Amino acid sequence: MKNLLVTGGCGFIGSNFIHHLFSGQNFDGRVINVDKLTYAGNIENLAGIEKQFPDRYIFSQTDICDKAALDHLFEIHAIDAVCHFAAESHVDRSIIGPDDFVKTNILGTFNLLEIIRNRKDQVVLFHHVSTDEVYGSLGRTGLFTEKTPYDPSSPYSASKASSDHLVRAYHRTYGIPVTISNCSNNYGPFQFPEKLIPLMVLNARAGKPLPVYGQGVNIRDWLYVNDHCRAVWSIMQQGEKGQTYNIGGRCEMKNIDVVELICDILDDMEPLKEAGSRKNLITFVKDRPGHDLRYAIDYSKLNEALGWDPEETFASGLKKTICWYLDNPEWTRRVQSGEYRKWIDTQYN
Ligand code: NAD
Ligand code: TYD
Repeated sequence: MKNLLVTGGCGFIGSNFIHHLFSGQNFDGRVINVDKLTYAGNIENLAGIEKQFPDRYIFSQTDICDKAALDHLFEIHAIDAVCHFAAESHVDRSIIGPDDFVKTNILGTFNLLEIIRNRKDQVVLFHHVSTDEVYGSLGRTGLFTEKTPYDPSSPYSASKASSDHLVRAYHRTYGIPVTISNCSNNYGPFQFPEKLIPLMVLNARAGKPLPVYGQGVNIRDWLYVNDHCRAVWSIMQQGEKGQTYNIGGRCEMKNIDVVELICDILDDMEPLKEAGSRKNLITFVKDRPGHDLRYAIDYSKLNEALGWDPEETFASGLKKTICWYLDNPEWTRRVQSGEYRKWIDTQYN
């Protein structure tokens, strides 16, 4: 892996992954970060990397739906490996407007696979980052394994399921060396504040309402982003080609419990001037249509094959995450005000 193309490297997990690669892992190649910079992509997430590793880090503002531009990047950078994060990733947005989800998540992935299939002199390793949401919803018991049948509920998860099938088919049909990972809900630094945890942290801090869907009884299996990045990098290096690995945090939590914990931690760190807890800000709102009840991952295949285990507990990971948001008010301000997008405007005006 001398020339590793990372798609969606300016997003939440992609930027954490690039930071992870340059933090003294077993990696001495170059990263070519290809990102369209949608509302979720923030080039500032990698400002330090750009400065520190000018010879080993290259950014290209490119849409993965633009096949000719992508093809050119593969050619000029002699790409020999891809880690594919780029996607439209928010379930609520997919319910309001599924169009971009089909384009980026399905057609964008298809473009990458087609380019790799047609490379003449270069075998390209392809790692596809996917989600546990492709498996649909669990009831009160049981865990998702790699053998659980696909049963996606939202346009987001249906588009990810579709891309997973394409990746697997390209391995079986054309022999492309692929690996796939399906992980549970991530949290940590650089997450766009539309997802549950950063939204609740920032609203709670600002004294705004905390909108909990339905009764807050839905369960997610929370995975600290750096644990996810370690798993992906380990699969890319040692995973068996053609295989799928589930990645989970061994951390099932009801949404309401997550939100209450955030309130408790913030109340402790920054007590409100007026008496009372931030829990008073919790507001139960209309449920999400097709809302999956429960996700929980059996990651024993990854554990047995590569020895991976999550290192972070939810208590330590959540505290780190809250501290990161409190320590980075400028990042938060720019993202929330939309100012972080000014760089993009300067490229076009
Ligand atoms: P994100 O929304 O924070 O980032 C997505 C990135 O992709 C952004 O930088 C965006 O600009 C870029 N992008 C979007 N469309 C593009 C296009 N057409 N061309 C090029 N770049 C484009 O997402 P994330 O949370 O970092 O998720 C990364 C991957 O992990 C996704 O594939 C997602 O499905 C998967 N995943 C995420 C989670 C999670 O909890 N966040 C859980 C499971 C799986
Ligand atoms: P989210 O972070 O959107 O991730 P996903 O839908 O991919 O699991 O949501 C996590 C859970 O939190 C999900 O059950 C929906 C719920 N939720 C709320 O209750 N309120 C909110 O404002 C958001 C964004 C999510």
